[in-house]
Amino acid sequence: MDRQQLLDRLAALEAEALAGGGEKRIAQQHARGKLTARERMEELLDPGTFEELDRFVTHDCADFGMQEQKVLGDGVVTGYGRIDGRLVYVFGQDFTVFGGSLSAAHARKICKVMDLAMQNGAPVIGLNDSGGARIQEGVASLGGYADIFLRNTLASGVVPQISAILGPCAGGAVYSPAITDFIAMVDETSYMFVTGPDVLKTVTHEEVTKEELGGADTHNRKSGVAHFKVPDERAMLALIRALVSYLPQNNMEDAPFKPTDDPSDRVCEKLVDLVPTNPNKPYDMHEVIRELADDHTFLEVHADYAQNILIGFCRLGGHSVGVVANQPAVLAGCLDVDSSVKAARFVRFCDAFNIPILTLVDVPGFLPGTAQEYGGIIKHGAKLLFAFAEATVPKVTLITRKAYGGAYDVMSSKHIRADLNFAWPTAEIAVMGPDGAVNIIHRRALADAEDPVAKKAELVAEYREHFANPYQAAAKGYIDDVIRPETTRRRVIEAFRSLENKRQENPPKKHGCIPL
Ligand code: HXC
Repeated sequence: MDRQQLLDRLAALEAEALAGGGEKRIAQQHARGKLTARERMEELLDPGTFEELDRFVTHDCADFGMQEQKVLGDGVVTGYGRIDGRLVYVFGQDFTVFGGSLSAAHARKICKVMDLAMQNGAPVIGLNDSGGARIQEGVASLGGYADIFLRNTLASGVVPQISAILGPCAGGAVYSPAITDFIAMVDETSYMFVTGPDVLKTVTHEEVTKEELGGADTHNRKSGVAHFKVPDERAMLALIRALVSYLPQNNMEDAPFKPTDDPSDRVCEKLVDLVPTNPNKPYDMHEVIRELADDHTFLEVHADYAQNILIGFCRLGGHSVGVVANQPAVLAGCLDVDSSVKAARFVRFCDAFNIPILTLVDVPGFLPGTAQEYGGIIKHGAKLLFAFAEATVPKVTLITRKAYGGAYDVMSSKHIRADLNFAWPTAEIAVMGPDGAVNIIHRRALADAEDPVAKKAELVAEYREHFANPYQAAAKGYIDDVIRPETTRRRVIEAFRSLENKRQENPPKKHGCIPL
């Protein structure tokens, strides 16, 4: 072959690889409101930065006539590129080729980029759109999945792993995302289930739609499997770019610094009277977070799930910070099973990736009741306690109002190694709220009182005067300072600045035994 023929051959193979499952299936993909794997790469990465690998890989299955059906790339597009100039490894399943199902060769391609990501210390982003294990390949595809699961596990806490769910993901296609750090789903075009509605109907006679069983709403609101819900694929790819901007490349680096024009000593007037004087009145903790954050920007994680606690990322003075905050507007901000697990996982993510943690506290305690006890609130609440206690990243805590009982200890208190703890003058720190406490410690006095209602009011006022303030805790040094709300942004930013070179180690061990 002469040089031109060699180049023509390459061009023909390139065109074949680009064609994926063919025009008809690409048109079907578009008709469903979905992009193709390569279109997604273009949208996700900085323009012109995608470097594709393994375009010419094909499967090696000879059963069920598969030797006649080979498609270059074998249903997954893999490679690396840049987001805001920073290296990321990506794989995107191509639903137009065997429904994006995973063959042994397809798995090897994914494993290759995961290995490169680990070696070179960069995030892995998976664009999942797959019918799961390729049925024709049998155990070879199951083995391929297990190879990926192992890498997901070993990469956990070393490089950030993000999963976008962009189609019907079944079987193995959900377990790899489940091990990654963040799962984002597109409303009405993405699904996650271990087994689909048809199998369910046969096995349990349960009839349920795809949407109810494993749609974006189900997993964002009910199961908590997914962390984000977006309206369409373009919003998904923009979300991933935003998320990556808060994260370091790997566990040996810090998150990128993003300079801001927002002054670090900006006076937060809005915070002055945000907390109602009536302790039973709610307010929206989002407002506190947005008022403190650079440019009022907060990327909320798990926004639809366990809304009695808020988690997410913001920047303070240009540095990425993970925020964990009780939300008094939902369930009065009580800690329950779901909120404890939600926050615990986030705290561990931040700790693994050197992201300092700001904790905002307004918590009346753990949610009481049989539903919570039977649901294991003891072990789930312990996860949050464990996560905060073991975290060695800089930790700053602000108590805005209530910090009662065990929840005071759990919510990044001084005792479990928070570095700097502040309270607003509205803070109330005690074993329990005035009503409950007075009923217990003054039971006899109340029973004997001529006017029990007046007596109760008097004793509640006395208790409130004594405990429902931050000064008992401040007198013991458990609160480092009681600060004026309008100064909070400056105080918190200066606190984190003072902790920039923090060094703290846990005792050597293989790993702790967090109460899973
Ligand atoms: C091979 C598959 C496939 C699979 C889909 N296809 N899933 N090929 N193996 N697992 C092919 C179809 O034959 C079809 O090919 C094309 O992909 C598109 O599929 P459709 O069914 O036409 O699309 P749609 O109606 O959108 O339904 C998508 C789907 C459905 C919901 C994903 O295909 C489905 O239920 N697939 C099976 C899911 C599943 O049970 N997977 C195995 C899970 S077990 P043509 O040529 O017609 O375009 C598993 C084990 C790992 O993953 C467990 C580890 C823990």
